[in-house]
Amino acid sequence: MSEQSTVSSLHSALEYDRIAPEASDYFVSTSYVKEIIDRALIYLHAGYPVHFAGPSGTGKTTLAFHLAATWGRDVTLMQGNEEFVSSDLTGKDVGYRKSKLVDNFIHSVLKTEEEMRRVWVDNRLTTACRKGDMLIYDEFNRSRAETNNVLLSVLSEGILNLPGLRGAGEGYMDVHPCFRAVFTSNPEEYAGTHKTQDALMDRMITIRLGHPDRDTELQILQSRTELEAREAGYIVDIVRELRGNDSKTRPSLRAGIAIARVLHLQGINPRYGDKLFHAVCYDVLSMETAKIQHAGRSVFHEMVDDVIRKVCPPVGAEPVRRSVGKIKIVE
Ligand SMILES: Nc1ncnc2c1ncn2[C@@H]1O[C@H](COP(=O)(O)OP(=O)(O)OP(=O)(O)O)[C@@H](O)[C@H]1O
Ligand SMILES: [Mg+2]
Repeated sequence: MSEQSTVSSLHSALEYDRIAPEASDYFVSTSYVKEIIDRALIYLHAGYPVHFAGPSGTGKTTLAFHLAATWGRDVTLMQGNEEFVSSDLTGKDVGYRKSKLVDNFIHSVLKTEEEMRRVWVDNRLTTACRKGDMLIYDEFNRSRAETNNVLLSVLSEGILNLPGLRGAGEGYMDVHPCFRAVFTSNPEEYAGTHKTQDALMDRMITIRLGHPDRDTELQILQSRTELEAREAGYIVDIVRELRGNDSKTRPSLRAGIAIARVLHLQGINPRYGDKLFHAVCYDVLSMETAKIQHAGRSVFHEMVDDVIRKVCPPVGAEPVRRSVGKIKIVE
């Protein structure tokens, strides 16, 4: 591939990275969700970046995508990464472009001119700042703090520092006035994350999220699975009961969705005493306490059994299993 075509394919790859957002059919908007999105929109309109912070599975990424879709401009997505250096955000020189001019206008005189120019390719942050996109920087605290330093002047002065272009006289770039950013992070996560510098936190408005309310959780479960409302309600209550009053701990929304999907696929209803249902709950909801044993039994399994007994009707109270498609499970 020629140098020219390498560069243009890099450019088109970056264009491809920009997404024209569309609202998802699965997105659930309850008053809990709407209040968060409305507040976030107010901050964006006022020119501030928004940061959704919260434990795993609280809907941060989904809210960020929805917010970006609602905002209506093209979206550039970046995912925090331990390996990133700031040029992975801004861009870099990818080589030189050589051009040669051969002037043979007067047949007895041959004049040639050669020019070498450095070729710079924007990375996503630069593209977003140039075009005025909505930048989603998901899990930005997985990138190292020094990598993210480049955002400081972008967010406060509206200037992107591009040291690689200094030689070409373009060391700084004005950020497009429509540029906005939404960040997500999980401050509780210690594996593979970095502490964020106060200066960066100070430049964004942080909306702290916990697990959503019961109604939202139920509607999300129903939008993501085909389980009927009453059955979905049992699963939501089991998950919420195990979570207790601690809004930080697992199990998250994902666990409920996983149980509901498995049950629906296998044609099982959530019933106390249904061995497979109990086993699916042990597996999906598994916590650190699962290792602790008492009198030869897992303390965690006993806890799950108690919650299922409290929440679900017993086996036999109603028809327990139904056949779905080709899958039929018989006890
Ligand atoms: N408003 C919503 N409507 C529909 N589904 C949702 C909504 N919020 C969250 N979900 C679903 O809940 C699950 C968890 O959401 P999401 O991935 O956004 O969480 P997160 O906080 O980004 O988690 P993590 O920190 O692990 O990345 C996903 O399956 C997502 O589709
Ligand atoms: Mg996420």
